[in-house]
Amino acid sequence: FRAKFLSGYQVLVTAGPTREEIDPVRFISNRSSGRMGYAIAQAAQAAGAQVTLISGPVALSPLTGVQLVSVYSAQEMLAAVMTQVATVDIFIATAAVADYRPSQPLGHKFKKHEAHWQITLERTPDILATVASLPHPPFTVGFAAETDNLIEYARAKLQLKKLDMIVANPVGIAGIGFDSEENELSILWAEDSIELPRAAKTELAKQLLEVIIQRYQKSGRL
Ligand code: C5P
Repeated sequence: FRAKFLSGYQVLVTAGPTREEIDPVRFISNRSSGRMGYAIAQAAQAAGAQVTLISGPVALSPLTGVQLVSVYSAQEMLAAVMTQVATVDIFIATAAVADYRPSQPLGHKFKKHEAHWQITLERTPDILATVASLPHPPFTVGFAAETDNLIEYARAKLQLKKLDMIVANPVGIAGIGFDSEENELSILWAEDSIELPRAAKTELAKQLLEVIIQRYQKSGRL
């Protein structure tokens, strides 16, 4: 039993989906429940860290002892992250940020009349890559959820986004990943990787944090 291995650390976590407004009553989003991010925030708090959780819209209760910042869109999540990041030791980007948003959200409800409706989308800002490219970034951990070539894509993302660590989880398998209680994780960093077999997200969160803190301490960035 090792008590409070994150005492004295500030941890920032993003969680949940974002919503990108089409018009005042419609949005684009995804199936993220926020459970993995909430589990990580809770485990970090229990391990002694000072935790801020920046969350998109989810159906989960706020966590005792964790500072919650609720946001709606990718743009709002980016702004919230940037106001917090300077004092943070470890940044864990668990959020399933929408990749695209309507280029021109409508100020009024779109009325149905035509048979087709075309909406032009544009890329949202990449919050994780923005943080990792800061002059003095925190220890930065990303997630990669993929249906195919999981490990290859995850390693590519680790390098492309200049991350310290990436956590790969398969999607499209019944019972794990998006909108599930359980998950199965591969953790990759520049030199090595480790597998965390299928387990409850709450359990995986603890194991993941132990790997993060070991790598962080070895990285010489303290
Ligand atoms: O490139 P991809 O979306 O697969 O990367 C996933 C990782 O990047 C996750 O850690 C996610 O939280 C983060 N991300 C982000 N901002 C985006 C898109 C992804 O922070 N706009």
